[in-house]
Amino acid sequence: MSSSVIGIDDLAMATGGFRIDLADIAERLGADPAKYYRGLGQTEMSVVAEDEDIVTLGAAAALPVVERAGRERIRTLLFATETGIDQSKSAGVYAHRLLGLPPNVRVVELKQACYSATAAMQFAAALVARNPAEKVLVIASDIARYELGSTAEPTQGAGAAAFTVSADPALLALEPAAGVFTEDVMDFWRPNHRVTAIVDGHSSISAYLDAVAGAFDDYRAQGGSAFEAINRFCYHQPFTKMAAKAHQYLAKHAGADVPTETLTAQVAPTMGYNRRIGNSYTASVYLALLALLDDPADLTGERVAIASYGSGAVAEFLTGTVMSGYRAQIRNGTNEQILADRPRIDDNTYLARQRIMPRSDPSNYGNRHETRGPFRFAGVREDQRIYEATAPR
Ligand code: COA
Repeated sequence: MSSSVIGIDDLAMATGGFRIDLADIAERLGADPAKYYRGLGQTEMSVVAEDEDIVTLGAAAALPVVERAGRERIRTLLFATETGIDQSKSAGVYAHRLLGLPPNVRVVELKQACYSATAAMQFAAALVARNPAEKVLVIASDIARYELGSTAEPTQGAGAAAFTVSADPALLALEPAAGVFTEDVMDFWRPNHRVTAIVDGHSSISAYLDAVAGAFDDYRAQGGSAFEAINRFCYHQPFTKMAAKAHQYLAKHAGADVPTETLTAQVAPTMGYNRRIGNSYTASVYLALLALLDDPADLTGERVAIASYGSGAVAEFLTGTVMSGYRAQIRNGTNEQILADRPRIDDNTYLARQRIMPRSDPSNYGNRHETRGPFRFAGVREDQRIYEATAPR
């Protein structure tokens, strides 16, 4: 086995068990549904079942990846999230048990807003370079919650992406150049006492654009390809219109002479899942990659950019090339089915669910059995979170 080619070997997703159409919240928020459909590029958002959280979503996304990779090959599990459920214990340790992984695995949680799954991918690539026989499992899982009635409310969502990083990857070979950018800005944050984020929406858009441009400049300085030599662009998508905005901004920033229809074709196939899931924070850029890989167009040999942004703010820009034979590794139709299977709920049902949080007695409560996923969060007993499998594995 060669260690010179390292990248993403497998990629899968999970999302909340219900969906709400954004037209169904528009009237309460005094907005025209077109503002959400066209202005934000969002049609729906996923809403979690009472017994779903970042652990159950993350483990559900990872289960098919782990089953295909083989549990014995995985020696590291990196859990990326900004929806932390504990100040001390990693959400990854719960997922490790639910997934039936062996004890000889290092597990850790990473945090930097929506960015940390990309840091996890880079750390994973370094581990694989040291030991090409192992696969690293990265789980990115988040539930985006803003104040009800705020302008950010239609950009909530819930989702998880899970991927393995390995030598001789089946999907995407990572190229060595990567550009990074960090600046201490207060565009979005969630203090420990809050269940919803504080966000200055418009400043977060400009912080995002500045950081992605800064990361791209560093990518070029590190020997990365010219803008024109990149075929597809997967951006972090807090709402899919953001990817279109970022792409236009970056093309101009790079001085690229690319026709508008080409720019559209470079990002449009990345938006199909996020448009219907909403913001899944750390998972979002990897759900963009998954939608791209699931697209019927043959991408073999194409250079794909990953533009990752996490408020606060850190950005990274890197590229990979799509492996020949990647189609044999994608789960054709599965992800579309996951989205189609979510029952649609109305605004009153959605509001009642959102208002469960924060719990009146956070130390002890039970959750109704609602999820159709493989794992459930049964509740909290004496401050201990209880997770269980819902079906035999
Ligand atoms: N039909 C079509 N488009 C419409 C419309 C209508 N009836 N009404 C408004 N729009 C468009 C606006 O022109 C705007 O598009 P543009 O930015 O391309 O000009 C878009 O819809 C959004 O309208 P805007 O008034 O800017 O929205 P807002 O102030 O209500 O809030 C966010 C938008 C994204 C700032 C808000 O949802 C938010 O804070 N989200 C969370 C933070 C976030 O996601 N940040 C992203 C970077 S991490």
